[in-house]
Amino acid sequence: MAQVVSLIQGASRGIGLQFCQTILKRHPNSVVIATCRQPDNSLGLQELKAKNPDRVNLCVLDVNEDTQIENVAKFTKEKYGKLDLLINNAGMLHTSGRGETSLREISRKGLMETFETNTAGPLLMAKHFAPLLKLGSGYFGIKPADSKKQHCSVLVNMSAKVGSITDNHLGGWYSYRMSKAALNMCSKNLSIELGRGSKPVICVSLHPGTVDTDLSRPYHKNVPKLFTTEYSVDCLMDIVESLTISDTGKFLLYDRTVYPF
Ligand SMILES: NC(=O)c1ccc[n+]([C@@H]2O[C@H](COP(=O)([O-])OP(=O)(O)OC[C@H]3O[C@@H](n4cnc5c(N)ncnc54)[C@H](OP(=O)(O)O)[C@@H]3O)[C@@H](O)[C@H]2O)c1
Repeated sequence: MAQVVSLIQGASRGIGLQFCQTILKRHPNSVVIATCRQPDNSLGLQELKAKNPDRVNLCVLDVNEDTQIENVAKFTKEKYGKLDLLINNAGMLHTSGRGETSLREISRKGLMETFETNTAGPLLMAKHFAPLLKLGSGYFGIKPADSKKQHCSVLVNMSAKVGSITDNHLGGWYSYRMSKAALNMCSKNLSIELGRGSKPVICVSLHPGTVDTDLSRPYHKNVPKLFTTEYSVDCLMDIVESLTISDTGKFLLYDRTVYPF
């Protein structure tokens, strides 16, 4: 069977690292391009590469550096000529590590840095990887029997439930909420532009649940249902594997609930 190619950006730790581990395990015919800012400093990625030398590529990619995005797109094109799955995973709560609780805590720097990583990064990734996604094999997701269109690949933006405008009853976390709400708009726009033609790309926003990672650590005490990364990513991969073209543009929770924007 032809090689299946997945790229996970923000793969150094947490949910991104788990995506790499789970994809390699669930899809023995697949290779992974794991990108992060400092691959040499990620013990998890180094171990994964040592165990799977021919199936794991480690690449330097800061989502705020356009040249690095372009370099990895060039590498992917030259080595594999296509991409079947792109997971835009890197994200941050805020530069301070905690969401703002009131207007007093807002700073232009915190707002813009959060936007740059959580919103501009995934969109720039989409820009540079769209041509390779258009050459994907349709391995992830399924084609319903009654559908004339066969999708070619899947693009996932890792969003968060708190990015839902409809579901915002508590306020706070301005930077994170706004960046993820805008990311959801990014997924919707991508689903329209990359949905054109005979080979559409399925584009979705996914919420992983509240997961035991560094990002959520300051809030673990108050979480009634904290997921392990293994459990969350298994749920998310069940979704990725069962997506159809009719799901494109949706915001889905880990249990496949369609969530309002
Ligand atoms: N954990 C949760 O409960 C939860 C809930 C909802 C949504 N999410 C979303 O899920 C995604 C993964 O979160 P996580 O919990 O796994 O967080 P995490 O453990 O804090 O990991 C964040 C990842 O993003 C990377 N990153 C940050 N800025 C980057 C940049 N400029 N360029 C490239 N990589 C960058 C980090 O790399 P470094 O190691 O280089 O810093 C790290 O790999 C995020 O988008 C987050 O918003 C998480």
